[in-house]
Amino acid sequence: MATLAQRHILLVVTGGIAAYKAPDLVRRLRDAGATVRVAMTPAATKFVRPLTFQAVSGVSVHVDLFDPGAEAAMGHIELARWADLVVVAPASADFIARLAHGLADDLPSTLCLATAAPILVAPAMNRLMWAHAATQANVAVLRARGVRFVGPDEGEQACGETGAGRMAEPPAIVVAALCAQGGDALAGLRVLLTAGPTQEPIDPVRFITNRSSGKMGYAVAAAARDAGARVTLITGPTRLVAPAGCEVVAVTTAQDMLDAVLARVADCDIFIASAAVADYTIATPAPHKVKKAGTALTLTLTPTPDILRTVATRAGAPFTVGFAAETERLAEHARGKLTSKSLNMIAANLVGRVGTGFESDDNELSVFWKGGERQLGKAAKQALARDLVAIIAERYRAEAVHSE
Ligand code: CTP
Repeated sequence: MATLAQRHILLVVTGGIAAYKAPDLVRRLRDAGATVRVAMTPAATKFVRPLTFQAVSGVSVHVDLFDPGAEAAMGHIELARWADLVVVAPASADFIARLAHGLADDLPSTLCLATAAPILVAPAMNRLMWAHAATQANVAVLRARGVRFVGPDEGEQACGETGAGRMAEPPAIVVAALCAQGGDALAGLRVLLTAGPTQEPIDPVRFITNRSSGKMGYAVAAAARDAGARVTLITGPTRLVAPAGCEVVAVTTAQDMLDAVLARVADCDIFIASAAVADYTIATPAPHKVKKAGTALTLTLTPTPDILRTVATRAGAPFTVGFAAETERLAEHARGKLTSKSLNMIAANLVGRVGTGFESDDNELSVFWKGGERQLGKAAKQALARDLVAIIAERYRAEAVHSE
């Protein structure tokens, strides 16, 4: 099981109703092996008393930058150095803005500026505050600086509205903390992954293929490796350098890819199908170069096997994650594939637009599973892959607990 043993986590609690979940987060971080210290903004103390955090963390809580007693016990610079990871949960819109601007006008913001440790932010606010251009711009600035985000989740809010803005649940924050630690959220697990396009030959020199670059799949393979998994990457032809430390199997056609997957699937815990597999192949590829005849040419196409469905519907199937590339009605099509292909999870994106999707360095994903979903806003494919792997780890463990 993944662990945060020996890790020093500084939990920054800011003002918001979701602060009531933070004591549970402290308990879960400690259960995962971490030593936790808590710093609170003055607004946070209006929601939960520092004494509550003192009781669950076992040490006194840091609130005031100018408290001589607290500074004598552990000064703020010492505390910033002590942390291996800073988790801000809940993170209010105001605190995210102050982080983005590098303000240091209270103890928590000073600690975030003075630390060299990675920072993980779990936003919690009204849906309109989250969607506001100012908040999204601040989030983009922080992401570009390497700050990680977990959530927010969609759902009913304390204010009575429904939308994106709920703080991620404490178990999801613990998994994100594991990943942020260069982590071992997938430690000991074997991940089998398909990536890139397939090529279906017409004759020895021509083939049918698609625009997939393989970038997203390769990024997910690297992120799964960084999360501690043993990764096998089954890849169609791409121009990319394979991520170090992954076993790589190069294939060409959809049938080759299926054969390579079936030869290894029994040994894997998680299967991720990110390949853009050709849906059709040439019924009978010509053994020699087809000569031009100057008349119309008809090629007969036959369907290829659906690799993802084949894996997901096997007896003893691994935790199976599909991708869906759609040009319209994203959620409807993705949820349809989740059910019809018997998947545990599906990550969907819109294609056919400039700036995201095929061939692009950026992407945005909507992730669906039975009973839940999460939006991963536009970001570099590497950052998205890390967030996606954190969700896969969280869902894998949640479903493993249910099936025990
Ligand atoms: N996939 C697969 N084998 C195939 C076709 C697709 O494993 N022969 C997988 C892809 O890797 C992806 C998912 O199925 O994870 C969805 O692919 P997509 O092309 O979006 O969906 P299709 O099932 O092919 O449906 P459609 O093209 O009609 O949208």
